[in-house]
Amino acid sequence: MTQTARPGGRPILMPDEVARVRAPLERSATLPPAAYVDPRVYDVEVDTVFARDWVCVARAEQVPGPGDYVCVDVPGQPIVVARGRDGVLRAFSRICLHRAMPVAEGAGNAGRFVCPYHHWTYELDGTLRSAPMMAGAEGFEPARCRLPALRLEVWQGFVFVNRDPEAAALAPRLAGLEALIRPYRFDGLAVAATTEFDSPWNWKILVENFMEAYHHIGIHGTTFEPVYPARDSSVPDNGGEPWTFLRMPGRAGTEDAAPALFPDLEGAERRQLVAANVYPTLLFAASAAGAFWYQLEPRGHDAMRLRIHVLLPAAVAGAMSEDDRHGAIELVRGIHLEDVPANEGPWRGLHGSMTGQGRLSPYEKAIWQLNQLWLDRVEARLL
Ligand code: FES
Ligand SMILES: [Fe+2]
Repeated sequence: MTQTARPGGRPILMPDEVARVRAPLERSATLPPAAYVDPRVYDVEVDTVFARDWVCVARAEQVPGPGDYVCVDVPGQPIVVARGRDGVLRAFSRICLHRAMPVAEGAGNAGRFVCPYHHWTYELDGTLRSAPMMAGAEGFEPARCRLPALRLEVWQGFVFVNRDPEAAALAPRLAGLEALIRPYRFDGLAVAATTEFDSPWNWKILVENFMEAYHHIGIHGTTFEPVYPARDSSVPDNGGEPWTFLRMPGRAGTEDAAPALFPDLEGAERRQLVAANVYPTLLFAASAAGAFWYQLEPRGHDAMRLRIHVLLPAAVAGAMSEDDRHGAIELVRGIHLEDVPANEGPWRGLHGSMTGQGRLSPYEKAIWQLNQLWLDRVEARLL
C-alpha cells in the first residue's frame, strides 16, 4: 500500500487522531483538520472514495428518451450519462480517444457525439463510429475503439456510476435506507426546479452539516428549531453500510396543513422532515410538502459545485407554473443561504494552526457514521 507522507516523514493522519475518530460515539471526536484542508487527502479520496464507491450523478428522469445525455465531472473523471437508441442508460468517459478533448458538455439530446476538435464521432454507447483522415494510421481500427465505460445503477430514480468493475451492487446495500424513505416514493419524483451555487469549501463540511439537526438550535434558531427541535432528532444504525439517515420529528399540530403529496405517510410521519446521504455525495431531504436533492460535484479539496433540485411527484412537477417554480427555488435557496455560514465558518476555522479535533454530540451520530465510512476507505493511505 502506498504511504502518503508529509515532508519529514509525518503521516497525514496520526494514529491517535484516528483512534479518536474510531472511538464509540460517546467518546469520539471529529476528523482532524487535515482531512478537509490538505489537498493530498483529496487526491487520496479521488483514488479511493470516488474511484470505488457509487457516486450519484443524475436523476433518471433527466435523461428520459433515446439520445438524452447529461455531462458530469465525477472527481477523477469527466463522464457523460447517455440513453442509447435501445433505451439503455450508460455512463462512459467523455474524453476523446484522440487527443483528450471532451466530446460533450452540459446536457441535451444528440444522435451521436462529435468531438469538436477533429470530428471523431461516437455512438450513444461510446463506440467510435468514424475518425476522418486516419486512413494512413497503421493498425488503427475505429470499430475496436470505445470510450471507457463505468458501471451504472439506478436506485429510487437516482443514477449512480462506479469506476470500479469489482464493486458490489449498490441496491442491496441500501435496503435499510430504502425502507426508511419508502413513503416518499422517490422513484416517481421529478426535478421541478433547480438552483446552483459555487461552494468554496471541502465537500465533507456540507455533507456533515446536512446530516445533523443539532445546529437547528444555533444556525436555524428561529426557522427550523421551532418546527423541528434538535433534541427530537434521531439517527438509526446503518450497519456500516454506505448511507446515513436523520429523522427530524415535527411539532404536533403542523400535519393538518400538509398537502397530500405522499399518501403513504402516516400519523406523525406527516409532520417529520427526513434527511439522507448515500455515501459519499448524494444528499436528499423530504417532508410531506416535497423533497429536495443536493447534487454535489467536488472540484478539489477546497471547492465544489452544488446544485439544489426541488423534487416533486412527476405529475405535480409537470403542472407547476413559473411562479410555483420560483417560489420553490426561493424556499430552498433560503434554507441553503442560512446554512452557508455553517460551511464557510468551519472552512476558515479548519485552517487555523491551533485548530484540532472537536468532541461530537450524541446528536451527531450521522457524522460519526460518515467518519467511519471515510476512514474505512482512506485510513490505510493516510496513516
Ligand atoms: S481530440 Fe477529439 S477528434 Fe481530435
Ligand atoms: Fe442547516
